[in-house]
Amino acid sequence: MKEVSKMKSFTDSIFRRFRFVPVVSKSAVAAALIAAGLSYASVVEAYSSPEVQMYAREAATEGIVLLRNNDNVLPFRKGTKVALFGCAQHQTFMNGYGSGGYVNPPYRISIADGMLMHSPEAISLDMQLLDVYGKWCKAHPIVDRGWGSWPYNVEEMKLDPEMVTAAGARNDVALVVIGRAAGEDRECRLAPGSYYLTDAEKDMLKQVTGAFKKTVVLMNVGNVTDMSWLNDYKIDGLLYGWHGGMETGIGVANVLCGVVSPSGKLGETIAQKYEDYPSAANFGGRNFNNYAEDIYVGYRYFETFAKDKVMFPFGFGMSYSKFDIKTDPIKVANDKIVVKSTVTNLGGASCLGKEVVQVYCSAPQGKLGKPSRVLVGFAKTPYLAGSPEGFRAQLPSGQTSCTVEINIPMKNLASYDDSGKTGKPFAWVLEPGDYDIYVGSSIRDCVKAGTINVPELRVVEQVESAAAIASEETAFQRMLPVVGANGEITLGSEKTPVTTVNISERIRKNLPAAVPMTGDKGIKLLDVALGKNTMKEFIAQLTPEELATLLRGDGNKDSALGIKGNASVYGGILPSLRDKGILPLSSADGPSGLWIPQNGSLMPNGTMLACTWNTDLIEKLGAAYGKEIDANGVDAVLGPGMNIHRSVLCGRNFEYFSEDPLLAGMIGGYTVRGIEESGTSAVPKHFALNNQETNRNRNDSRCSERAIREIYLRAFEIMIKVGKPDNIMGSYNLINGDWASYNYDICTTILRKEWGYTGCVMTDWWQQSTNNPRYFAADNALRVRAQTDVLMPGSGPGRGQGGQDRSILNSYENWVKAGSPADSIEAGLTLGEMQRGAENVLNFVIRSRYFRKLHNLPNTYKADNNWFDTEVK
Ligand code: BGC
Repeated sequence: MKEVSKMKSFTDSIFRRFRFVPVVSKSAVAAALIAAGLSYASVVEAYSSPEVQMYAREAATEGIVLLRNNDNVLPFRKGTKVALFGCAQHQTFMNGYGSGGYVNPPYRISIADGMLMHSPEAISLDMQLLDVYGKWCKAHPIVDRGWGSWPYNVEEMKLDPEMVTAAGARNDVALVVIGRAAGEDRECRLAPGSYYLTDAEKDMLKQVTGAFKKTVVLMNVGNVTDMSWLNDYKIDGLLYGWHGGMETGIGVANVLCGVVSPSGKLGETIAQKYEDYPSAANFGGRNFNNYAEDIYVGYRYFETFAKDKVMFPFGFGMSYSKFDIKTDPIKVANDKIVVKSTVTNLGGASCLGKEVVQVYCSAPQGKLGKPSRVLVGFAKTPYLAGSPEGFRAQLPSGQTSCTVEINIPMKNLASYDDSGKTGKPFAWVLEPGDYDIYVGSSIRDCVKAGTINVPELRVVEQVESAAAIASEETAFQRMLPVVGANGEITLGSEKTPVTTVNISERIRKNLPAAVPMTGDKGIKLLDVALGKNTMKEFIAQLTPEELATLLRGDGNKDSALGIKGNASVYGGILPSLRDKGILPLSSADGPSGLWIPQNGSLMPNGTMLACTWNTDLIEKLGAAYGKEIDANGVDAVLGPGMNIHRSVLCGRNFEYFSEDPLLAGMIGGYTVRGIEESGTSAVPKHFALNNQETNRNRNDSRCSERAIREIYLRAFEIMIKVGKPDNIMGSYNLINGDWASYNYDICTTILRKEWGYTGCVMTDWWQQSTNNPRYFAADNALRVRAQTDVLMPGSGPGRGQGGQDRSILNSYENWVKAGSPADSIEAGLTLGEMQRGAENVLNFVIRSRYFRKLHNLPNTYKADNNWFDTEVK
């Protein structure tokens, strides 16, 4: 019962400290202003929703990963005397920098503040030391020198040995906080203060571990950093606390003080040292990077070739309790693998705990070669009571165990043959042999639950080759497992296959038919929404100028046509478009909260959200955030970040989820689902292979078609199928020689033809201009041909703010001059291509929150694909 009152007083104290003003709905006023053609920016009010605060707090707790807990140093038990070290206790990093972190939250709870809420009732914080650090941090504020020059770390206070010794004598345990942050447009550095510890931090660890009986280290970081120093000091407890947004301190304190047991699991492998990562030799190149590790990204590499180079494996994360996962022998029903486990909290701690059931597949090496284990399904349990003395009383059922059923379609286990080795080129195949299924609590802690034999090669999907390596000159050696006589696997290599596709022919063959232009017939977009007219009839009314305008944003950030602080506005940006009922739609960053002048919630970063492994919570957080987005008048929010953690040094890893496409795809998919369910749109980004920030506008990601499909696009595919976003954002980089946003195969062949995506694709902001002889188009005509529909923010590519270009109309006029040939791509951009792009944009306008609100239409969004199904009872 004591525990219960502890939690209650803790919750009360939070709500006493932070009071929030709920939004006042002025939608009627807004509608009138909008109808009168006025901007509705002025009627939007500051809003940070209590619902986001609640779920953000939960995620800031559940995403924390406990990696070491010697002699149960954690949780801090009642009365434990704790001394806090490290300036990040006060100068806590709440998120990263740039569009993914610029949010004005109504409050920020530092780690020191979070811990203080438990003192002196639960633990006893060393106030003397807290004060020394407080004064020092006040005198040494973090200096933010602006875009791209943000601080990576905090300046550490030099420690007086006498002070440390005295603190060691009067306390039971030290908590050392190490802080790091990163941001877009630049990488983390392989240097002290970024990837490595500084001398001051090493000195702090040396002195503290020398003076204290027990030391716990908390990593307040956005990216994984070097951890080799763990061997140099006596560290009893270690946690990755990530950046928990405005709730960072609450999440940390919840876990450290044992309000709940930690239940986060790593979404990426932590290696012994940087050089051990498979991408290390091919990251950071100015002009290009060869993705030589191929599909062997993260654990796929370590588990197959280099198990001993792992410090903390993928999926790993400790609890204060012990969990038992008992799995029934697996079955296959309706072409789905049925994994049924019973999870029991065996106790060991008096607090509530959750476990993540993880399912891995070990596929036969076959002709293609496979990673030794691949994540194919997962589910998180609810809180389960650990022991009768603990929180059991709080749970209506006192539930200590639950059953988890995970149903995984066999087709999800397939590999992509990009060379024809299996006899089925460009197909997703299940090679013959035994597929072993492992179930457990991390990639290493799992047991075999059964084997499925596939008697003969099975094609699960035949597709067309797309986006492969451009030429012999750009081909390279990629990693490959070589199976020895006794079944042992060693690291080999082979040359990447080179494209066999004539892209010009593919574009020509798939040219869309044009609808003859009719001039204005008085059809409004609402008539299409109400089914009175077809979209084709509506589009036939649009002039080439109107079509070209639908294919760009308004030109600058903070367009006068949208809400205050918008990233750009698109759709009805001309009076003649608005006359036809096309509304101007506001976009705004971003993945962890709204980057607008007014207050908004700052949520945990993407990496931390992934470490929750909790799709249910993520959907709720997404939905709550969606309401906040809606309340602020934002039609399309620029997030979540979907790119794969290829290197620990990528400056934007904090915005992205994981090294694994299934985890990234599911967390991204459920974020999108929540946002779209609440009536507004997500814009997941950056499509695709935006895996580094160095020279991000001109860098070529050279990668085999197999790795593109199995790893980098897979995360997007899962997210799109699970979340059904209305928009997505392209990326700055090139993919095998073609700019991602101008890449027909990426944006049309795969995204729309294979995956059935019908929404809008926008560029990243100020995309580079280019031309491409194989596409017979330049600049914006080229991207429209590829089906990246909207240039953002709308000024000419590579031309900075302002200054529209005429590249779309120039190209179209050339086509007209050539006699408007229906099957020619050489002449220029065809009318049909412009109309197709416009239709993609208008599909979204009709579904947008603004359009539906104005016309009182329901949100018909419906998620209907789970990739794999789970049932937790
Ligand atoms: C970033 C995007 C962001 C956009 C708008 C770009 O620099 O790469 O992620 O959404 O700016 O702020």
